Amino acid sequence: MNRGVAPVTYGQGERPPRGDYARARADYTCEQDQSQYGPADHATYKRLYLRQLQQLPGRACDEFIAAVDQLGTPDRIPSFDDISERLYPATGWQIVGVPGLIPEEAFFSLLASRKFPVTDWIRTPEEFDYVVEPDIFHDLFGHVPLLFNPTFANYMQAYGAGGMKASRLDACELLARLYWYTVEFGLIQTPLGLRAYGAGILSSAGELQYSLTSSEPKRLAFDLRRLMRSRYRIDSYQAGYFVINSFDQLFEATEPDFTPVYLQVREAIALSGEIAAGQALAGEVEFSPSVNPG
Ligand code: PHE
Ligand code: FE
Repeated sequence: MNRGVAPVTYGQGERPPRGDYARARADYTCEQDQSQYGPADHATYKRLYLRQLQQLPGRACDEFIAAVDQLGTPDRIPSFDDISERLYPATGWQIVGVPGLIPEEAFFSLLASRKFPVTDWIRTPEEFDYVVEPDIFHDLFGHVPLLFNPTFANYMQAYGAGGMKASRLDACELLARLYWYTVEFGLIQTPLGLRAYGAGILSSAGELQYSLTSSEPKRLAFDLRRLMRSRYRIDSYQAGYFVINSFDQLFEATEPDFTPVYLQVREAIALSGEIAAGQALAGEVEFSPSVNPG
């Protein structure tokens, strides 16, 4: 019953897409093709996993560290079904395979039904330090541990439902900024200092340290409307991060209907413009970098 769907590319779409979209169902999900993984792929996964794991103490938030073992042994690329067997009882989420990036609407509707799409291919050894599109390591290691946290799991579902509405309101670009600055690149303030919870940070060899300790980027308190006015970078470490106090704060701030929020943000942009990545406005208080993580 695999009909195949049109491939999706990132950015300007000049590069040929990665991944085999002919295998995908109409909702863009596909079986995880285990036969595509050879010994070198399992070895790449294990090296990536262990490199990130040793960096987590003092840098990743507790909720992430508490759940990272749920991915199973790092010795081989995990089976999505095995992870779902542990995840579903915990928060009602499941992992589903996809051939790569998928269209916004398909993505939103999977999240809204508590299904997290994970790319089933892994980067090549040449891409060990940097891969342009998200691969299985980013998707699993970066995103899946926090899906074991009930509050964060609820936030992700609400985001999906919000995305379906944003599509109708033509507000996907504003909503995408929320995803970027929280789910991908979020920082959280804890009694022991700043920690990372964003998947883009947690799956990155260099940005985990940079995001917390570098004096270059701006670290500002999470503010929904301000964040939606803020541009972001997709091709380098972030120039700015937003810091939440708790996942409860994040969930509560995003719970109200965004219909009026989008209007207010558009008005602010029309009046004062967008805010460049890494720009702080007059009077904005910056969080200090961490001095001694770990
Ligand atoms: N409350 C948001 C809306 O009405 C839905 C949402 C929740 C969006 C959480 C993002 C994150 O659109
Ligand atoms: Fe991601």
